[in-house]
Amino acid sequence: MTALSLSNVNKSFGKVHVLKDINLEVEDGEFVVFVGPSGCGKSTLLRVVAGLEDATSGDIRIAGELVNLTPPSKRGIAMVFQSYALYPHLNVRGNMTLALKQEGQSKAVIEERVQKASNMLGLDPYLDRFPSELSGGQRQRVAIGRAIVREPKLFLFDEPLSNLDAALRMNTRIEIANLHRQLGASMIYVTHDQTEAMTLADKIVVLREGRVEQIGSPMELYNNPVNKFVAGFLGSPSMNFFPGELLNADDDRTLGIRPEDLFIADDGPLSVRVSHVEHLGGDTNVIAHAKDHQITARLFGQYQVSEGEDLRLGFKPESTYAFDQDGLRLN
Ligand SMILES: Nc1ncnc2c1ncn2[C@@H]1O[C@H](COP(=O)(O)OP(=O)(O)O)[C@@H](O)[C@H]1O
Ligand SMILES: [Mg+2]
Repeated sequence: MTALSLSNVNKSFGKVHVLKDINLEVEDGEFVVFVGPSGCGKSTLLRVVAGLEDATSGDIRIAGELVNLTPPSKRGIAMVFQSYALYPHLNVRGNMTLALKQEGQSKAVIEERVQKASNMLGLDPYLDRFPSELSGGQRQRVAIGRAIVREPKLFLFDEPLSNLDAALRMNTRIEIANLHRQLGASMIYVTHDQTEAMTLADKIVVLREGRVEQIGSPMELYNNPVNKFVAGFLGSPSMNFFPGELLNADDDRTLGIRPEDLFIADDGPLSVRVSHVEHLGGDTNVIAHAKDHQITARLFGQYQVSEGEDLRLGFKPESTYAFDQDGLRLN
């Protein structure tokens, strides 16, 4: 069964064409991540799925049913926002039960669902607290709990971790992955963070200026990007790009090599001068220049390399990517 199917979805705000011919399927139980730079249309696409915005054209189907004209509350979705959007005058229990009360669920059902969600999210000690008495991470868990109790067909997350600090972001990311495994629910998760996309997704949808650039599993996109944009967006540090002539190849093409595919080799074809070194303990990032081109090498382990030093870098031929002048993949 297909949880969500979008065909030729377009969205304009007045004259601004924000979403352009979006085609996409989310399978039952799948974790799909929309990723792309800020302003590319991720939130708008999620809001169109939720029914908070109307599509200008195209079909939106949830569990096989056309929902273009269905109001948000009847679409069987639950949405979690970056801002948590909790009701400040309700305690945790009140926030989690409100939608169920509005749906007219029985007391017994409400109690059972809140217990289950609260237990899953470690919220039991906080049920009587108000949002102002919770940390950011706890508030976000309440927002997720409020979605879980509704038992939606489809969960929609819009950058839910952006307000959390780095350590908490990682913990909550793992919790969300666990939650997905436990619930087996279909989820769409929006982020501008390629690490979140790579670590959470069954399937990543890369968006750029309102268009789908590529859809695939994290490893498909990492190993086989269709263009320079996808190649540069996924992977950290980003893929290096330089003109072919730097390696005596055609100068009408751009070559790409990932930082982790470079290594120090006395007979390596890339002569570089080191401009900066980041010693991370487990890895060493060497930022260097070959002529005017900046190249980053991510070396596994610790290296005594210093600024101003001349190095030769090598790589395996099969780890290079070639792109034409429009950024389309050639090899
Ligand atoms: N209500 C609106 N009216 C006009 N333009 C909007 C509206 N909402 C979003 N946009 C525009 O649509 C584009 C995509 O926005 P958004 O979906 O929020 O991007 P993202 O979530 O990827 O950062 C932006 O250029 C934004 O300015
Ligand atoms: Mg957004």
